[in-house]
Amino acid sequence: KVRAAAFASGTGSNFQAIMEAEGLPIEVVLLVCDKPGAGVLEKAERFGVNASVFEPKSYESKSAYEQELIAELNGAGVEWIFLAGYMRIVGPDLLGAFEGRIINIHPSLLPAFPGKDAIGQAYQAGVDTTGVTVHFIDEGIDTGPIIAQEPVAVFPGDTEQQVKERIQQVEHRLYPQVIRQLLKETTYEDKTK
Ligand code: GAR
Repeated sequence: KVRAAAFASGTGSNFQAIMEAEGLPIEVVLLVCDKPGAGVLEKAERFGVNASVFEPKSYESKSAYEQELIAELNGAGVEWIFLAGYMRIVGPDLLGAFEGRIINIHPSLLPAFPGKDAIGQAYQAGVDTTGVTVHFIDEGIDTGPIIAQEPVAVFPGDTEQQVKERIQQVEHRLYPQVIRQLLKETTYEDKTK
């Protein structure tokens, strides 16, 4: 199995979906969390996954923060990184260390509604279709090469909460599915060239 880290800042429902998915070719050996007290930490404990909690603000620079992350990831033998609600832009240090091996899930049909609160943005815009995107990370905000997308309908009269629930249901199915497919097709060696 491929040794993987999950990065999360929030409640961790996507982390949970990955942990509960059957037959994934990964072993999640580390959870990286940049928000002390985030709900995902309890989930990590429940699944017996080591958690590293960082406070990026306490570092003198983003680079210093990421260098410490990289040391931690290398120490745990991590090969792939899955961002699961990690609400921070990945900088050049981390990107360079894990080039082509950092994947993100985003709750919109990118390139529509990048950045924060994508569900709220789509709801406010009044679109009748939004969705979910899984993509490789690059130096932009939600701009990297798209691996998979799935549309999600917004029905007249929906509350934002209803849209969010519909999106999250898709996320929890799509993310494990993409991980399974991606790591079946791509060996570790292929991706580090
Ligand atoms: C998910 O909807 C994920 O797509 C989103 O944060 C949520 C985390 O929920 N990510 C982004 O917006 C990244 N730009 P969770 O903590 O319950 O998995």
